[in-house]
This record gives sequence, C-alpha cells and structure tokens, in this order.
Amino acid sequence: MRVTMIGTGYVGLVSGACFADFGHTVTCVDKDEGKIARLQKGEIPIFEPGLGALVRDNVEQGRLSFTTDPSAAIRDADAVFIAVGTPSRRGDGHADLTYVYNAAEEIASLMNGYTVVVTKSTVPVGTGDEVEAIIKKKRPDAEFAVVSNPEFLREGAAISDFKRPDRVVVGADDERAREVMRDLYRPLFLNETPIIFTERRTSELIKYAANGFLAMKITFINEIADLCEAVGANVQEVARGIGLDNRIGKKFLNAGPGYGGSCFPKDTLALMKTARDHKAPIELIETTVRVNTARKQKMAQKIIDALGGNVSGKTIAVLGLTFKPNTDDMRDAPALDIVPALQDEGAKVRAFDPEGMEEAKHMLKDVAFASGPYDCVQDADAVVFITEWDQFRALDLDRMKKALKTPVVIDLRNIYRPTEMAAKGFRYVSVGRP
Ligand code: UGA
Repeated sequence: MRVTMIGTGYVGLVSGACFADFGHTVTCVDKDEGKIARLQKGEIPIFEPGLGALVRDNVEQGRLSFTTDPSAAIRDADAVFIAVGTPSRRGDGHADLTYVYNAAEEIASLMNGYTVVVTKSTVPVGTGDEVEAIIKKKRPDAEFAVVSNPEFLREGAAISDFKRPDRVVVGADDERAREVMRDLYRPLFLNETPIIFTERRTSELIKYAANGFLAMKITFINEIADLCEAVGANVQEVARGIGLDNRIGKKFLNAGPGYGGSCFPKDTLALMKTARDHKAPIELIETTVRVNTARKQKMAQKIIDALGGNVSGKTIAVLGLTFKPNTDDMRDAPALDIVPALQDEGAKVRAFDPEGMEEAKHMLKDVAFASGPYDCVQDADAVVFITEWDQFRALDLDRMKKALKTPVVIDLRNIYRPTEMAAKGFRYVSVGRP
C-alpha cells in the first residue's frame, strides 16, 4: 500500500518508519525544510532507541522517503495520515487543531481517487467530522473516508509499542476504509493483535480516556505514597500488593515526582475541557490535573526539607532532567518546576542528564551543566534524582559520597534501596518509603 504521513514529529516519524518496515511504501511529509534535509541524510531529529537504524534500513530498501512537497505523495496515496502536533491552545487548554485542519485542506486539494484520511494525532471528539466537512467543502466530488486511528506509543519504547501493541483502535464508519486499515495493519493481525473497530467518535475518545486513566493511576499511587510517608508504610509494596490483582494491574504504579511529557499533561487538560464543554465534567480528571500540578512544587519542598528547611546559598546537584528516561524530551518535565522552585529559595543548581541537556539549556535559567554524574555531585550539598536513567541505577556510591560536601540524597524515583543508602552513611529521602 502507499502511505503518506503528514508531520514528522514523534508519532509521524515512528509510525512512518514502522509502516515502511511492514512492507508498505511510505512518504513522510513535513514543512520544516531543515528537518526533512536531516532525515534525508539519515539523521534523526529526536532521541528514540532503534529509530535511526529502522529509518536508514527502510530508506535503503526504497520503502521510506522524506519530502517537503506533499503533492505527489498525497496524489498517489491509498491512505494519508495526519500526524501533526495538537498542542494545548494558549489560555484555555483546548487542543489547538490549526495544524490538523491545515493538513485537511492540503489533502483535499491534492488527493486523487479513493483515499483514506486517517487522524493519528490525538484529537478531541468530533475532529474527524470537521476534517470530513473541510474536505467535502473543497472537493464535493472526492471519494474518501475519514478514519480515527489513535496511537498509543510511549517515547523511549515507541518502536516496540508500534510493532507489538496491546491493541489497535480504528474508528471508521465506511467498510471500504476498514478494509484499507486491515491491510495496513496486516502484519499485526498475523500476530493476533486485537484490532478494535468502532464508530469514529468512540475511537477519538478512547485515546483521551486511556491517557486520562493512566494519568489518574499515577496520581493515585503518588497520593498513596504521601500517605505511606505519613503512616510509615512502603508504597512499592502497596503497589505490588494491589497491582497483582489483575483488575488493577502492575503497570503505571511507580510513585514519583508527578507525570510529565508531551501527552499526559496536554491530554488530561483537553479531556477536562471537552467534558466541561459538553456539560459532563469529569471530576476525577480535574482533580488529577490539580494534584499533579501541585505535586511538582511539593517535590521542591521535600528537597528543601531534606536540607534542613533552608537551601539558600547551597549547591544542589540534579541528576536527570527529562520527563522520563530514554528520551531527550523536556516537555512538561517535573524538573522544569522543581529546579526554578529551588532557585527561588536561593539554591544554586548543577545538573546532568544523558540526553536532555541541549533542550534543558533553553528551558532552565542559571543552571550549571555538568559533564557526568560525578562531576555534577562534586562539592554539592545534596543530590536529587529526578529521572530514573539506567546509568544512575548503579553509581559508585562510595565515590559519590566522597564527592558530595554533605551526603544527602533525595531520590524522587526510588532508584536506590533505603537500607543500602543508610548502610553507606547517606541521609536518604525517597518517595513513599520509610
Ligand atoms: C504516554 C502513554 O503511556 C502512551 O500510551 C501514549 O501513546 C502517549 O502518552 C501519547 O499519548 O502519545 P509517554 O508520554 O511517552 O506515553 O510516556 P509514559 O511512559 O506514559 O510516561 C508519562 C509520564 O508518567 C512520565 O513523566 C513518567 O515518569 C510518568 N510515570 C509513568 C510515573 O510517574 N509513574 C509510572 O508508573 C509511569
């Protein structure tokens, strides 16, 4: 099949490369000339394990190409995917659909013959109807169907999430379009991945409901962690104790500094707004958003408390800045709230992150960036772990203790064991553990 992907951000690039790897002929289109030029040279603009090799391999096999010119790509396509960004609109938290609607206009003017237009971007309920109306208005004669096919991939694990998903969701009312979608995902069918066909609006809502639920699950365990601290219980054991119940499930029960990233914060806000607009407010999501926002400030206070209530003039080493490991993405990372809150109290911050420092340099002020973890902790009054990169899990603790001015460790991701840290002579504070 011939597939065109509009937008080479996270979702577009990963989906494009994976569809090419399934054997389809994929053209990825983006307006950003610099980005396309880099991709044509085999350079990947984001950090995602395995993506570089996958892209280069499929380019070499002639199944994947990149262009800034959508005309031929859209004219010849069996399916055109809209995978452009849907950022939070400034002021009201609604998803900004400008890029989605622009893509729809463009597709309408260029498409030729029966075309399936697929929204892969996360779009609010009813966006598919609007896309359909835009295309119909411009090309009343055109043969096409608009389908919703939300993406559930996680940054850092995107390729395996795409190729071995728990499920594929397709919202399509047109049987011919369903057939095209079945063909596109045929390799997954062969692996017996459940493919759920729904009405289009239902599919659009599934995406928000999934992210809302996961954000709520994380927020739940974070609040349980606070309670654990108050009553002297251990949140990791509570998580295991409840997670082994299949109805609850073990995943997404790691307590930490609050969820961040390009999806949960934006999608929970958008879900909240949609629900309010339709006079069906979801109070659980509203509370989740409020608790998660407050949590980041709370984490700064936790660090200040661990340093005796005053950080003025103290140097705090921060290990890990990205919103989670295996990405260079800093969007809505807890570090973006925690670091300035510490600076406001007079602390000097020195930081190290394996992949996120380039991004972080634009987003954080007055931070000294270190060349590695030991360099970062040298003569610091405390070290704070904000992101659980693998390389932070096995640090030489004796070396770290020697380098620190005072052996204070605040571990916001529960990377280390309290008993081990106490035995090494650290003053150790973690999340939800005695
Ligand atoms: C999330 C979803 O997991 C994907 O299924 C979805 O496709 C994606 O959003 C999207 O909508 O595009 P992602 O944002 O890449 O993926 O990252 P996650 O692994 O879900 O982590 C999100 C945040 O939650 C991170 O800040 C992470 O540290 C935090 N988290 C996650 C926890 O604090 N505890 C957990 O147990 C799990």
